[in-house]
Amino acid sequence: MGRGRTTTNARTNPERGARDASRAQATASKSKARSADVSATGANLKEWNPKSWRQREALQQPNYENQAELEEALKVIANRPPLVFAGEARDLQEKLANAAAGNAFVLFGGDCAESFRDFTSDNVRDTYRVLLQMSVVLMYGSGVPVVKLGRMAGQFAKPRSEDLETIDGVSLPSYRGDNINSCEFTPEARRPDPSRLVKAYDQSCATLNLLRAFSNGGYAAMTRVSDWNLDFMENTERGSQYEDLAQRVDAAIDFMAACGIDETHPSMQETSFFTAHEALHLGYEESLTRLDSTTEEHYGCSAHFLWCGERTRQPEGAHMEYFRGISNPIGIKISDKSDGEGVVSLVKKLNPDNVPGRITLISRMGAAKLREHLPRLITAIEDAGLNVLWVTDPMHGNTIKTDNGFKTRPFEAVRDEIMAFFEVHEKMGTYPGGVHLEMTGQNVTECTGGIMDVSVSDLEKRYLTHCDPRLNASQAIELAFLMASELNDMRRRRAAQ
Ligand code: PEP
Ligand code: CO
Repeated sequence: MGRGRTTTNARTNPERGARDASRAQATASKSKARSADVSATGANLKEWNPKSWRQREALQQPNYENQAELEEALKVIANRPPLVFAGEARDLQEKLANAAAGNAFVLFGGDCAESFRDFTSDNVRDTYRVLLQMSVVLMYGSGVPVVKLGRMAGQFAKPRSEDLETIDGVSLPSYRGDNINSCEFTPEARRPDPSRLVKAYDQSCATLNLLRAFSNGGYAAMTRVSDWNLDFMENTERGSQYEDLAQRVDAAIDFMAACGIDETHPSMQETSFFTAHEALHLGYEESLTRLDSTTEEHYGCSAHFLWCGERTRQPEGAHMEYFRGISNPIGIKISDKSDGEGVVSLVKKLNPDNVPGRITLISRMGAAKLREHLPRLITAIEDAGLNVLWVTDPMHGNTIKTDNGFKTRPFEAVRDEIMAFFEVHEKMGTYPGGVHLEMTGQNVTECTGGIMDVSVSDLEKRYLTHCDPRLNASQAIELAFLMASELNDMRRRRAAQ
């Protein structure tokens, strides 16, 4: 607990924990008797519908030449099946509520931007596999379940700082993600093309199909954990530490089998895996917004979890209007520039009934700024008695440009921001609930540092990202080790209190 404040954190305050539980119960029973004008989170929906965002200013949308062509593409998507189901989103929300209360840890991970070019089943499998490896390491270290969320199956649209990109005096629309245009610098490639939205839907559908098969078809079996080593992890100190840990997990599984929970038990064969992306392109999100027949509430069915980026969360803007009416668990990115009062009023607007698990605040500011600014944001939220899950995005506050022209992120800066996030929450008596990473299962050279010691001059070797630099598989797993060991230490310190 920091600065002598009285914390109201659920984990350390049984009264608040009980309050949360009764609130969750009240919300569950209320949703049965709810009028169609109130959302699952208490928002007034009299003026809301999946299209009401269109009355507001929508930032970061492409300028399509032909609106009719856009509406045609959106109609095609609106007639396609939802990608996820409302019940799955509710299941995730419960898991996130559990994490907010300190009883689980959340791992978000995946590409900054998915691409049409790099879409192969091997790429999906490799990212999924690394996320599973990381979650095993984190579970073993933290002693709590890990909620896995892929920035996958829909993470295409990107916010950009400029509408136009100028090279040698030629200006063209900026690249906004493969669902909008293509990154080559030609007028044809940069023209926003609505048919790309349908292609992105189809790719998301195929990706999700594969992820569901991996999660439920035996690929995620705990007994296979020691088969999961990646070749390039071999012969390194951390690689052998991973082997070591995998053997310890194997021993734990043998012990459970001896107790009667053997590998045929579903919990040893299957795992929950959820999808998430930035809900940036509101036309696409609108066309996948569906009314859930069991609760009569609207859900964004493009992914289980949707977040709003740093550039589009104006309280009266179109994105907030869309978000307030859907009942999914949602995320809001916050930076060092966010003011406590503004964040509190946004959280209240999006979650009037203070439903646990509905709101995740994802801070992204770099280690030094986090130490300076996160405490005041935590104080504002705690003083207002709001239920949120705190997650760190240690990527977007740590992007630099090298002299040889690459956007990169030093592994050490990413690590430092995570450690600062843990440290601040421990001091404040709140719970650091998860991490949000841009990463891939491939052996790319986009972020410097880590066990394989990627140098600035290595960056050009395998720099494949379509947008921001990603951690490669070994850097991601190394981070999982570091986090697991810190979470374990924190757990021991708490127990000793
Ligand atoms: C992102 O997560 O890819 C992103 C663009 O983040 P932010 O909105 O925090 O810059
Ligand atoms: Co990014």
